[in-house]
Amino acid sequence: MMETEKVEKVKTGIDGLDEMLRGGIPKGHVFTVMGSFGTGKTTFSLQYLWEGLQEDQSCIFISLEEDKDAIIQTGRSYGWDFQPYLEDNKIAMERLAPADAEATISKLKSDLPAFIRSFNAERIAIDSVSLLNMMSNTSQEKRDRLFELCKMVKDSGATTLLTAEVKDDNPRSSRDGLIEYTADGVILLGYNQSNSQEVQMNVQVIKMRRIDHSRKIKPYEITDNGIIVQTEGAVF
Ligand SMILES: Nc1ncnc2c1ncn2[C@@H]1O[C@H](COP(=O)(O)OP(=O)(O)OP(=O)(O)O)[C@@H](O)[C@H]1O
Ligand SMILES: [Mg+2]
Repeated sequence: MMETEKVEKVKTGIDGLDEMLRGGIPKGHVFTVMGSFGTGKTTFSLQYLWEGLQEDQSCIFISLEEDKDAIIQTGRSYGWDFQPYLEDNKIAMERLAPADAEATISKLKSDLPAFIRSFNAERIAIDSVSLLNMMSNTSQEKRDRLFELCKMVKDSGATTLLTAEVKDDNPRSSRDGLIEYTADGVILLGYNQSNSQEVQMNVQVIKMRRIDHSRKIKPYEITDNGIIVQTEGAVF
């Protein structure tokens, strides 16, 4: 009898979602969290890294959006104080300024691989690849850079979260339309509006290579303690 190969999982730190993933993200996966503005992509990234820190794993957060102080403040608003972990070198937070595209790209290419290795990072979050993409001029360049980045983080062995914005006219597809094919996993954040004008946010695991996962769409809330998925809830 063949024994089923056990896949080692990395918890996202979002309870209901880890349940939907039957334990978490397969270790070493590069996965994307896609959603439109305000759906909680940055929150998700911080929650994911916070979980890593609680498990004593080294983490790297690369932000193309907010600067370090803003990120630390966002974390605090959820009750996650990253400051002591920064001082202990358990987490590194890097802001890459989109204004200086060439410097950012070369920094990513030349410094990041060595940095990940020396830091021994087990979790990486990059927020967001959509901004990174805007730095490339041609679609060929976009594609090459995205593949290069994915390969680099994949080779590092760290389980990596890349956030991505979705298209305005198709909230199930990333802006570049590439990352969902390249990534090992895709988690989609979206929202519904009911007749009563109430907005409900929802999450779905669209793809997660190598594991069986829930295909249900589940509601979630962003609370003072971060994202909470209501696995018992139903979407309207
Ligand atoms: N402390 C908090 N408690 C409850 N809800 C919060 C809190 N902080 C933020 N939110 C909610 O989370 C939303 C922002 O989440 P977040 O910044 O993670 O989204 P995002 O997808 O990264 O957005 P963007 O595309 O603008 O970067 C806010 O608009 C607000 O609704
Ligand atoms: Mg954000």
